[in-house]
Amino acid sequence: MAYETINLDVDDHIALITLNRPDALNALNDVLMGELADALKGAQENEKVRCIVITGSEKAFAAGADISMMKDKSFVDVFSGDLFTPETDQIMRVRKPIIAAVSGYALGGGCELAMMCDFIIASETAKFGQPEINLGVVAGIGGTQRLTRLVGKSKAMDMNLTGRFMDAEEAERAGLVSRVVPVKKLMDEAMGAAAKIAEKSMITVMVVKEAVNRAYEVPLREGLLFERRAFHSLFATEDQKEGMAAFVEKREAQFRDR
Ligand code: HXC
Repeated sequence: MAYETINLDVDDHIALITLNRPDALNALNDVLMGELADALKGAQENEKVRCIVITGSEKAFAAGADISMMKDKSFVDVFSGDLFTPETDQIMRVRKPIIAAVSGYALGGGCELAMMCDFIIASETAKFGQPEINLGVVAGIGGTQRLTRLVGKSKAMDMNLTGRFMDAEEAERAGLVSRVVPVKKLMDEAMGAAAKIAEKSMITVMVVKEAVNRAYEVPLREGLLFERRAFHSLFATEDQKEGMAAFVEKREAQFRDR
């Protein structure tokens, strides 16, 4: 399917989704969010795809939800239409890993979209922020919730109350991003990480994603039990036998996703 506001390339087991509304700094409108959700659903269903990368342009990952689209909407419009809920639900249903490769602005819904991904690799020019307060609203798809879990209350309050931007160095220090690289190396780094993940057993990869995400949903004792049982259950797979045999035999494992 040809998309209007994103580009989708599937190659070497990696689905690369590039947000593509350059005139609006990739602001998230209905069309873009619908296309993104559709592309992610397709990537989830495509057996060839083993990892997904979402990126924007050098100037902007995404500068937030589209303000022009929202400005004249009423409470009834956004509440009845449940603005962005079906699309974000779809993103959260993806079981394959999603890496956000962020350069430039990741603001408002853009920062929130990056946080919905499994981890964020940022370029040195990345700027994260929740500036919704300047528009008379509050973050709506995770900026008060995921950001607080990721960077703690003090920084999350600071970002949401002042609307200031956090640069890449601060974002790495705060634990919002996993790596920071020069802008020219961003895509190599993100695609390299995706390629590394694509080599693993897909079963194990999906279990890892579920287990880490559990840490945000349940108390520690429950999370640890989930993790232990996940570890135990992987002994039912051929890939556990292969992975451990390959280590002992000093060779590369050949995983078969079984
Ligand atoms: C619509 C946007 C936009 C946005 C930028 N543009 N951000 N259009 N929605 N969120 C458009 C501008 O209007 C402009 O269009 C073009 O992109 C370039 O932007 P400039 O402002 O000229 O660029 P610059 O001076 O470099 O400033 C970059 C910027 C600024 C700092 C990122 O654009 C900015 O502050 N944008 C808004 C950021 C924001 O408030 N985001 C939160 C949105 S609310 P023209 O046609 O003039 O060239 C949100 C809620 C999520 O995200 C929850 C939903 C449920």
